[in-house]
Amino acid sequence: MKGILLAGGRGTRLYPATIALCKQLLPVYDKPMIYYPLSVLMQAGIRDILIISTPEDISRFERLFGDGEQLGLHFEYAVQPKPQGLAQAFLVGADFVGNEPVALILGDNLFYGNQFPMILQEGAALTEGGLIFGYQVKDPQRYGVVHFDAQMRVLGIEEKPRHPKSSYAVPGLYFYGPDVVQIAGSLKPSGRGELEITDVNRVYFEQGRLHVRLLGRGHAWLDTGTFDALHQAASFVQAIQERQGIKIACIEEIAYQMGYIDHQQLFKLADRYAQNEYGEYLKKIENITARRLK
Ligand code: G1P
Repeated sequence: MKGILLAGGRGTRLYPATIALCKQLLPVYDKPMIYYPLSVLMQAGIRDILIISTPEDISRFERLFGDGEQLGLHFEYAVQPKPQGLAQAFLVGADFVGNEPVALILGDNLFYGNQFPMILQEGAALTEGGLIFGYQVKDPQRYGVVHFDAQMRVLGIEEKPRHPKSSYAVPGLYFYGPDVVQIAGSLKPSGRGELEITDVNRVYFEQGRLHVRLLGRGHAWLDTGTFDALHQAASFVQAIQERQGIKIACIEEIAYQMGYIDHQQLFKLADRYAQNEYGEYLKKIENITARRLK
């Protein structure tokens, strides 16, 4: 399966913080925001990744990650000239997707949970249809919302409904078969002039090919769309890291644990950080991993 990481948008809700730098490069505590969704794709076992961003920002991502080889990954880059909707990612990335299934993750979504890597690996095994998630939130009207009948069968899915029919928001992580490119190509722009990912999901739903998996209490899905949400996400990461002494979304550690790089490559990456706390952590990873496996 291939992966698309979408890091576009104007980020106007976070002005002035995002006037000169896109949102997905802002730090969430101790690392750039994009590390968090990237770590999700990596944990799903996805190594072929297309990063899509704005014409102004794409070179910054290239500077951050290069071709990905240092992490045992393969990165490609593409530009979304204007923010015309999440589903446009499949048109920008049509050649990259080719005939393979694909996962799309939004560059500003953070996920955390014990069971999550297992769920991701199930998602990455999908070959056809669509798989999305449902997560209970207090303010569903800000998101795509999926609603169910009493047997929890999906009844419909709506984008930012004024009167949500459930409290299940759809997080920015989607798994699709290769026909998602055609489906995205058949969409008409919505009222806000965008190709909506919710419309892609509606097509799969109407064809009886959409699976929705609920993420329960043991999962954290955090948003970074407002200053408060950004602050909360950083505090969450800080609290867990400080308490446990292990990092969330440390992409070098994940590359090592997934067997994408060996310990020599990990040490080389650690050298880049010299004496700082992140570099010290990378140097200790072998011990941490051994302790966890005991
Ligand atoms: C987008 C999608 C929405 C989804 C959300 C997840 O919203 O349109 O369906 O629930 O991402 O973060 P937006 O980022 O445009 O507000």
